[in-house]
Amino acid sequence: MSFEFIEVNPQVAPFVGLIRLNRPKELNALNLQLMGEVKQALAQLDEDEQVRAIVITGNERAFAAGADIKQMAGKTAIDMLKIDQFSTWDAIRKTKKPMIAAVSGFALGGGCELVMHCDMVVASETAQFGQPEINIGVMPGAGGTQRLTRAVGKVRAMEMVLTGKFITAQEAKEAGLINKIVPVELYLEEAIKMASTIAEKSPIAVQLAKESVLKAFDTHLQEGLYFERKNFYMLFATEDQKEGMNAFVEKRKADFKGR
Ligand code: HXC
Repeated sequence: MSFEFIEVNPQVAPFVGLIRLNRPKELNALNLQLMGEVKQALAQLDEDEQVRAIVITGNERAFAAGADIKQMAGKTAIDMLKIDQFSTWDAIRKTKKPMIAAVSGFALGGGCELVMHCDMVVASETAQFGQPEINIGVMPGAGGTQRLTRAVGKVRAMEMVLTGKFITAQEAKEAGLINKIVPVELYLEEAIKMASTIAEKSPIAVQLAKESVLKAFDTHLQEGLYFERKNFYMLFATEDQKEGMNAFVEKRKADFKGR
């Protein structure tokens, strides 16, 4: 895999893939090419049987400072409609394997929205999250008004979206936007550790469990419960279910094969 604006390591740890956003001078501003590369890399890692969890990161100063404002500045509404960048975001959202964001520095606008496309978030103490689109005459467009509101509640989402104010890692943690804060030298290591923990489980169970949790955002409770139940039953068709339960009974560590 060869890309211009991202780096990909399909095996940063056993069964863990890594995508690093890599436009450091522009604080990893998400231009269309970069987002296309992220989509392509995720599709490849999603297909790769040697990958069971994916970490997405930037660098110490910025996860990503948002969509590329310079690329968007001269565009008309029709240009934006034709570019249809959100089909790329839709594809990213459909990644089946768990994605963990390892965030340091700025996660703003589309950067914060990309974090919210991930399933879990590890942040460094220096991380800042924000939806500052209002400062440049627009508003979030990649799910910020919806996912942020579900994650942190109405009044906090309103404050971030309407004032453009950034929140600290500590505030993000208290609000339920992120899982964990660690010192800056450890954020990537910690995210890889989290991914490695998931990578030890049955990948089929992980996939169906992720899908079931995400279903809670799309549907009402009763339908979500039926969906969960079907996935639960389906797992009894896997070798991994037999291996997991037999290993418990035999007091040994399970060796999941993804079958
Ligand atoms: C393009 C960007 C950028 C962005 C930073 N840069 N953010 N370029 N798009 N979103 C560039 C700067 O122009 C500058 O390049 C270099 O990165 C360093 O940034 P500085 O501003 O000099 O750094 P600093 O003073 O430390 O300020 C950091 C910052 C600020 C607070 C993060 O850069 C900032 O406010 N950025 C914009 C944040 C934002 O509004 N994001 C939302 C974008 S809209 P040069 O070459 O000039 O030195 C959006 C909509 C999403 O995300 C819709 C769905 C995809």
